[in-house]
Amino acid sequence: MAGKRVLLIVGGGIAAYKCLELIRRGQERGLAFRCVLTASGAQFVTPLSLASLSGDKAFTDLFSLTDEAEIGHIRLSREADLVVVAPATADLMAKMAAGMADDLATTLLLATDKPVLIAPAMNPRMWGHPATVRNLARLRADGVRVVGPNPGDMACHETGSGRMAEPHEILGAIEALLAPADRSLAGRRAVVTSGPTREAIDPVRYLSNHSSGRQGHAIARTLAEAGAEVTLVSGPVREPEPVGVRTVHVESALDMLSAVEAALPVDVAVCAAAVADWRPAAVTRRKLKKEEGAGPPALELVENPDILRTLARRDTHRPELVIGFAAETGDLEAKARAKLARKGCDWMLANDVSPGTGVFGGASNRVLFLTVEGGSERWPELDKGEVARRLVARIAARLRGEGDRG
Ligand code: CTP
Repeated sequence: MAGKRVLLIVGGGIAAYKCLELIRRGQERGLAFRCVLTASGAQFVTPLSLASLSGDKAFTDLFSLTDEAEIGHIRLSREADLVVVAPATADLMAKMAAGMADDLATTLLLATDKPVLIAPAMNPRMWGHPATVRNLARLRADGVRVVGPNPGDMACHETGSGRMAEPHEILGAIEALLAPADRSLAGRRAVVTSGPTREAIDPVRYLSNHSSGRQGHAIARTLAEAGAEVTLVSGPVREPEPVGVRTVHVESALDMLSAVEAALPVDVAVCAAAVADWRPAAVTRRKLKKEEGAGPPALELVENPDILRTLARRDTHRPELVIGFAAETGDLEAKARAKLARKGCDWMLANDVSPGTGVFGGASNRVLFLTVEGGSERWPELDKGEVARRLVARIAARLRGEGDRG
C-alpha cells in the first residue's frame, strides 16, 4: 500500500473520532491521506486535527474560491487512488445512492473515477430501516465497497448493528482494494465456513460456542483477494462481511450444510466453522417454562451432520481440495492426523486450544499443518490474517499442480 493516496471523507457521526486513528495506522503502512469533512462531520472532528495528522489541508467547503483556485473539486476526487467514507452516515449513504451533489463531499463522490469504500455508522434502527437497506443495495450494485458495520453497544445506548468498523478493519479493506492484484486464484471457486452455529432449544434459547469467525473470515477475504469467487457461509459473528465475498448468514448446522451444498461445485472448501456437534432433538415451539416441582427439563440431543466429512466424501462435486481445522487439547499431531483420516479431507490445520493458549476467539494461531499424504509442518505463531495468506498461497500452488502433497 506504500505510496497510495486515500481521499478520506469524514461524515457526521460520533465514530468520526476513529478517523484520527485510521489516519495514523494508515500512515504507518505508507498511506497518504487527504481529508474532506462534511458540515456535520466538522461538528465531531475539527479540520485542524485532520490537517495536522494528515499533513495536508482538510477541505470542507464546496464553494471556497481559494480551494477552487488551488485545486478543483474534480481533480481532488481523481488524484487519490481510493475514496473512503468513514463514518458513512445514513444521510450520506442516501445522498450517494440518489446521486446528489449538494456539498463538497457528495460532489467528489459523484465526480470520482476511483473505487469507493464506505464504513457505515449509525443507530441500529437507522441501519435496519428499509430506506437504508435499499440505499445500501443500490450502492453495492453501483460498485461501492462496504466495510462493517459491527454489532455492539452504541454511543446512543442502544445495542445492535451500526458501530463503525474498527480502524484496522477499514485498513484491511483498503489494503484489499489497493493490493497489487495477485490473481492466482482467478477463475476458481471456493466455499468457506466460519463462526459458530446456534442450535435452537426453544424460541429464545440455543446451544452454541465462543468461535469468533476471525480465521474463517480472513481466509474468505484472502481467497477473494487472490481472485477466487468465494461464498462464505457464516454463523452469527461480530466480524464484518469481507469485501468482495458473497456472505450467506446461517444459524444452525443444518442450515450451514444446505448453504454449503448450494455453493457447489467449488474447487476448494475450507471448513473453519466451529459447528455444534449436537442439536436438541426437538425444538419446542413455545418457550420452556419452569414448572413447580418438575425439576429441570432433560435435553435430548442428536448429532449434527459433519459438514467437512460430508464434503470430503461426496461422490459428485467433491471439491478438489477439502481443508479442515482441528481444535485439540494435548497430543495435537496424533489427534489431528486421526481426525484428518476420519473426515477424509486433504489438509488439516490443527491448533492447540488448551486453556491459556488464547487461540479460541484470539487474534493469532499456532498451526500444525498436515496433509493426507503424510506431510507435517509447524507454523510459527501468526496472526489469523497471516495464517490465511499462507494457506491461500498453498491452495494456489496446489491448484496449479505444484507440490504440497507432503
Ligand atoms: N466440522 C464440520 N461439521 C461438524 C463438525 C465439525 O464441518 N458438524 C468441521 C470443522 O469446521 C473443522 C473440523 O470439522 O474443520 C474439526 O472439527 P472438530 O469440532 O474439532 O472435530 P470433531 O469432529 O467435532 O471432533 P471432536 O469434537 O471429537 O474433537
